[in-house]
This record gives sequence, structure tokens and C-alpha cells, in this order.
Amino acid sequence: MTVPAQLSEITVGLGDRAYVISVANGLIDQVGDYARKLGFHSPLAIIADDAVAEIYGDRVKRSIESAGFKTEIIPFPTGETNKHLQTISALYDAMVQLKPERDGGVIALGGGVAGDMAGFVAATYLRGMRFIQVPTTLLAQVDASVGGKVGVDHAGGKNLIGAFHQPRAVLIDPDTLKSLDPRQVRSGLAEVIKHGVIQDAELFKRTGDSLDALLAVEDGAYNEIVPWNCRIKARVVEQDEHEHGLRAILNYGHTIGHAVEALTGYETLLHGEAVAIGMIAEAELGEKLGVTPPGVVKAIRRLIQKAGFPLEKPKLTADAMIDSMFRDKKVKSGQLRFVLPTRIGEVKIEAVTDLELIREVWANYHGA
Ligand SMILES: NC(=O)c1ccc[n+]([C@@H]2O[C@H](COP(=O)([O-])OP(=O)(O)OC[C@H]3O[C@@H](n4cnc5c(N)ncnc54)[C@H](O)[C@@H]3O)[C@@H](O)[C@H]2O)c1
Ligand SMILES: [Zn+2]
Repeated sequence: MTVPAQLSEITVGLGDRAYVISVANGLIDQVGDYARKLGFHSPLAIIADDAVAEIYGDRVKRSIESAGFKTEIIPFPTGETNKHLQTISALYDAMVQLKPERDGGVIALGGGVAGDMAGFVAATYLRGMRFIQVPTTLLAQVDASVGGKVGVDHAGGKNLIGAFHQPRAVLIDPDTLKSLDPRQVRSGLAEVIKHGVIQDAELFKRTGDSLDALLAVEDGAYNEIVPWNCRIKARVVEQDEHEHGLRAILNYGHTIGHAVEALTGYETLLHGEAVAIGMIAEAELGEKLGVTPPGVVKAIRRLIQKAGFPLEKPKLTADAMIDSMFRDKKVKSGQLRFVLPTRIGEVKIEAVTDLELIREVWANYHGA
């Protein structure tokens, strides 16, 4: 197997479930080589949404076939609105036809929706089988494909049904971002900015310095940024795989962001766009609580504005937002907990019991 130029490898150290995230341009054509090297057995199921199957399905299929495997593309209808158990059921039907073995495997090809659903199929079909993540959106490359959370939405809530099931490898080809809609690219950058705020001031600065190249997906713009983000997420997941503590810092911007998403029906705003609003509002809450220095709030707001996120305040009442936050599955012992920046690169988690503070922050929110 030819080793691509500029290959970055990050190990996710989880004992007997450890795996390597590989990042290099052109990796999308080497999925078969990696599956062989990892000892996967034929046949392999490539699970992808219709749109990604159309763009990258054949290339991945060819790579897997030339490594000597039998394989089929199992497509599902594109979009978050299809991330539910009925789609999973149809995927199981196709798996029964293909008859992959437990040591065989699933290739999750696409964005976070494909990763979460194919991962859930891999976690449950035959009581769990091997799978490889091949993420193709920025959100999936810097966030969703790392850490082993898989699952689907339920009418009662987003990601309500799922499992922890780590992949055997994550194969990231940053060149695939070139076909991504620019709005999706920006949405993924919200998680990059988040990683900077919670863990790494240097990443935060670099993101600001190279913002134009990142937004335009210039050649090589992501060759350092993607592994950098994977490393941050991997280090957090290694310390707290099942989210008993530290992993919760990844929810910065998401407590309010999830409420905005839920109340706007997951349709008007993309995930990262809601998180961008959430990151600003949560920093403003931190300022009100005396945790986040005003200069830090300004720096966060400035970078998010510079990235061009739509930051107008959604027409939602603070009480509706608070209700929605209490319904979130992450609420612990009936308390709302927020991730608050103490400086760029460091956060602390605080329970906020005075709901009036949240009402004030939402009343005065100014992102745009
Ligand atoms: N498991 C986790 O830890 C985790 C973390 C964050 C988010 N998520 C989940 O991720 C999901 C969102 O992921 P997403 O934003 O990637 O959405 P997505 O998978 O729906 O992809 C967004 C759109 O981009 C298209 N697309 C994907 N790759 C493309 C490419 N290279 N070129 C052209 N088009 C492409 C898709 O067809 C889709 O229309 C949510 O369901 C969220 O819950 C999971
Ligand atoms: Zn997110």
C-alpha cells in the first residue's frame, strides 16, 4: 500500500478499543487497503447518504474491491430528518441481504448523519461488528467521527437512542471538503472554534489567521487543522470515554445551541450555526457570572462574526429556551450546567440555578 504524502496519524488510546485516525489527501481511494490491513473480512457494507454515495460511492467501492473484498453501497435518504429508527430498519434489511460477518464490517461514508447511523448499525447488527469511519463533512472530520458516539434521533429528542461503539479506524481525506457546500464548511468551523476556546488558544489564533483559506477550502488549508482538532477531541475522549465528566466540555455553545436547534425545528439553522449563537450567548452568560473576562467574550464574538455566521437572534423566548434546555438529556440532577470560558483555551463547568440570569443574557444577546 502506498503511503500518501503528508500523512498525519493520531492514536485514540482506549486500551483494547484503541484506533488510529489517519488524515491525508487521497485517502478516500485507500479505504480497501486499510480494511485489509486491519483484517476485515468480506463482504463490506458501505453505508452512505444518497448525495455522498453519488459523489464518492464508486471511488470507495473500487478501492475496496481492488483490495479483494466483495462490497455493496447501501444508500439512505440524505438529511438529519432521516436519522431515525425507520431508516435503520431499512439498513438492517439491506445488511441481511448482503450478509456481512461480525469481523466483516461497515464503512460509514459521509457526514455526521451517515457516521451516527452506520455506526449504530455496526453497534447493533450481529450484536456489534467492526466499522471504519470515512467522514466527508468538516463537522464529521473534526468532531463526529471521533469518540464512538453513534445513534439516531427520536420524536422525543435528538440522539436519544444510541450507543458507544468505537470504530477500528477513522480515515480522513480533507480533499473531500472541496465538494462540500460553503455553508456546511462554515458550520463545521464552529466546532473548530469551539475546540480552540475550550482547549487551545493557539488553534483559536490559527483559525482566525487562516480563516479565508479555511472558508474557501484552499488546497492544503485543512491538512494541519483537521489532525489538530482530532487530537484535541481524542485527548478528551481518552480521559472520559462515556461522558462522566471532562467530555462535557465539548458541549460549550451546545446547551443554548441545542435549544435553538430544537425550537427552530432543525431546519432554519445548521448545527454549527446554532452552536455559533450558543457560544456567544454562553460566553455572555460567563461574563455575567464573573467567570469570563469581557475581552474573552469580545475575542470569541469577533472570530465568529469574521467567519460570517448568521447571528441574528432567533425569535425565541427565554422561557421556551430554558424549557428546552431542561428537556435536554444532558441535564444532571435537575440542574442546567454550562461550559464557561475562563480564558481562550480553558473553560469551567458551572451549574446555573438563577434562571433570571439566563433570561437577562438572552434578552441582551448580541451576536450580529
Ligand atoms: N457522534 C458524535 O459524536 C457527533 C458529534 C457531532 C455531531 N454529530 C451528528 O452529526 C450530524 C450532523 O452531521 P453533518 O453536519 O455532517 O450532516 P450530514 O451528514 O447530513 O451532512 C451534511 C450534508 O452534506 C452532504 N455531504 C457530506 N459530505 C459531502 C461532501 N464531501 N461533498 C458534498 N456534500 C457532502 C450530505 O449529503 C448532507 O447533505 C448530526 O446528526 C449530529 O447529531 C454526532
Ligand atoms: Zn456540535
